[in-house]
Parts: sequence; C-alpha cells; structure tokens
Amino acid sequence: EREFRINIAIDGPAGAGKSTVARKVAAKLSYVYVDTGAMYRAVTWDMLKHGIEAEDEISVLERLEALDIELVPGDDGQRVWLSGQDVTDEIRSLAVNRTVSRYAQIEGLRAKLSASQRQMALRKGVVMDGRDIGTTVLPDAEVKIFMTATVEERARRRYREMPESEAITLEQLEQEISQRDELDRNREVSPLVCADDAMVLDTTSMTIDEVAEAIVHQADRKIVR
Ligand code: DC
Repeated sequence: EREFRINIAIDGPAGAGKSTVARKVAAKLSYVYVDTGAMYRAVTWDMLKHGIEAEDEISVLERLEALDIELVPGDDGQRVWLSGQDVTDEIRSLAVNRTVSRYAQIEGLRAKLSASQRQMALRKGVVMDGRDIGTTVLPDAEVKIFMTATVEERARRRYREMPESEAITLEQLEQEISQRDELDRNREVSPLVCADDAMVLDTTSMTIDEVAEAIVHQADRKIVR
C-alpha cells in the first residue's frame, strides 16, 4: 500500500461551516488549509481603505498589482498578511462582508487570485475552501465537497462568531447572507455552483465533527491505493 497526497476542494455558500470544517480536515490529515475567501476579503479591505470602488475595475486591477497576499498557518488558525500587515481580524468586518461579493465579480481579479491558489496546490496535500474551487480553481481535485445548510442556520452560525462591537441583528444578518449568496450564485465569472462530481453535504443538522469525519472518510478512500 502506498499513500498518495491529494487535494480536497470544499465549496458552498456563506456560513455553511466550510472554514471550520476545512481546518479540521487539514489538521487530521496534516495537510495545508487554504481559505480563498480570506484572499478576496483582504483585497476588498485594501480597496475600501484606498477608496477604490468595485465599479472602477481599472483602478482595482492596477492597485492589485501592488498587493502581496500571504496566508500563514498559525497556532490559532490561519493568519492573513497583506503587503506586510496582519489583517486577519480587519477582513471579518461588516464593511468587508457587505462589499466583497462586488469585488469578487471582477474577472481579472479572479484570474489573479485563482492562479495563486493553483500554485499553492501544485504539490498536493491541500484542503482549499471557497466558491469555485471544485469547478474552476482545482477541477482535478481528488475529493470535492459542496457544503450547504439552510439560510437560517447559516445566519445563526455567522451571528455567533460576529464581534460584539458589530451592531447587527440576527434577522439583518440573514438578509445580508441571502443577498451575498444571490450575488455569488449569479455572477458571470465562476459563480457559486455545485460541481457535477462533488459530494453534497447538507450540514444543517450535523455537528462539525460529523462533517469533518465524512470528508476524511472520502479522502481516505483516495489516499490509500
Ligand atoms: O468564504 P467567505 O465568506 O470568507 O468569502 C467571502 C466572499 O468572497 C464571498 O462572498 C464570495 C467570495 N469568494 C469567491 O468569490 N470565490 C472564492 N473562491 C472564495 C470567496
């Protein structure tokens, strides 16, 4: 028996639990976790800081050339560095939540981030989560998972992890998540869709450990030949 390193793609809408589960799966397999949403968030945070609107694609792409995004595995999860600054906490703000989908529609931006994501997965042993990983970024991933949950449950999960300082009700959050899903599902470039060969996991009434177990089980079948 030989052990193969594989890539695992995890896609799904906001708040389905992808990042928590992906981190767990990566830890269990001693793989590297790559949170692609954090990359779109870091870019968005920078654009907001510089007053560059998503509609101004030329300026966005020009500014992007100056940016260097690094995902660094740390003890308390992955840290996100943007051109030498740790922006891990900043990128979770409501301001970023509310605008990230608009920047994520820009084709040139997606092309650039996708290329760097592919680079990270070249040597295999990666668990990558996002919206277009199984369809566009890593269409050859050995394991593809599409995680879903009802919008009510996803809003509850996001609400629990929200900083206290953010003034928003559960109902507002549910509304905002639905809107973001709409934008992510309906954009022209790499929309959020389930890959034909992905395993669909409805996690509404599953625990994090149950979901992680199910994915590790899929992975084990591919790893040992
Ligand atoms: O997973 P997240 O909520 O942190 O992602 C933030 C946004 O980034 C999400 O609204 C859609 C976008 N995104 C994307 O378009 N493609 C990805 N691979 C990951 C995220």
